[in-house]
Amino acid sequence: MAKIVAVANQKGGVGKTVTTVHLAAMLGEFGARVVVVDADPQNNAVDYLSRGDSFPAEAVSLSEAKVSLGELLEALDPQYDFIVIDGPPSKGAPATRAAVVAADLIVVPVDSAYDDMKSTLDFTHELHELEKELGRTLDARILFTKDGDYAINKAIRSVVPGAAQLEALRTRTPWRSSFRNNSPAGLPVTQYKDEVAKTSFRNLRDEILKLMGMEPMGAPEPAASKPVATKKARKTAPRKAPARAAGKQVEATTGEN
Ligand SMILES: Nc1ncnc2c1ncn2[C@@H]1O[C@H](COP(=O)(O)OP(=O)(O)OP(=O)(O)O)[C@@H](O)[C@H]1O
Ligand SMILES: [Mg+2]
Repeated sequence: MAKIVAVANQKGGVGKTVTTVHLAAMLGEFGARVVVVDADPQNNAVDYLSRGDSFPAEAVSLSEAKVSLGELLEALDPQYDFIVIDGPPSKGAPATRAAVVAADLIVVPVDSAYDDMKSTLDFTHELHELEKELGRTLDARILFTKDGDYAINKAIRSVVPGAAQLEALRTRTPWRSSFRNNSPAGLPVTQYKDEVAKTSFRNLRDEILKLMGMEPMGAPEPAASKPVATKKARKTAPRKAPARAAGKQVEATTGEN
């Protein structure tokens, strides 16, 4: 059965889509089958993946699938190891409810530098109401996004979990211009040169995996020695080979004559 992560918050612009696409990329880093379900009619996540040519995940638009989110998840379940849902920035959307009910883990991105918390607190309140209605707890965690080392970031981190009655993930995703700069090319964070961005998403993925009772994937083997060896082999082989071949040809010609 596919593990489902729902990235949801009715507050707009908090980093839901950035979290979704790069978490999906990280989950697919070592070949797991990953699909992003774009439950936002803006289809920003689908657009992002369509701009790149080697994204390690696929994407499906809920608005274009013309079925309910439940039906779409059922159809995708046997084909994938992970489904990451990008939620819409709207209050009380039916897709958000279906997404959080189906999810193994709900990630609630909160912009670490934005101090208007009303929408986020409305949303987390709704989650707690839904828990009462369902008679079970929903596994939801706050993710601080666009994080930095400023007083406002610290203030938000110290206030939101208590006000929302929701635990925060240990991993925070930092504010990095690389997320904006690499967006036009649809580059997955797995291919960023920005190691800070890359490491934060690798940590996020592994923390989420652990929360879902799975093994963390870790970092890839350092490839530092490989390119050097390949370079040397490439450099020496063509240089020696023609010289020897030429020499032999000369000898043979000389011998024949
Ligand atoms: N960690 C980050 N560092 C810098 N910029 C970021 C970061 N995360 C997101 N952004 C930028 O902030 C903007 C909003 O991000 P994003 O689209 O992911 O938010 P969203 O919650 O999906 O928005 P919406 O509610 O409209 O769907 C984008 O321009 C994105 O590039
Ligand atoms: Mg979005």
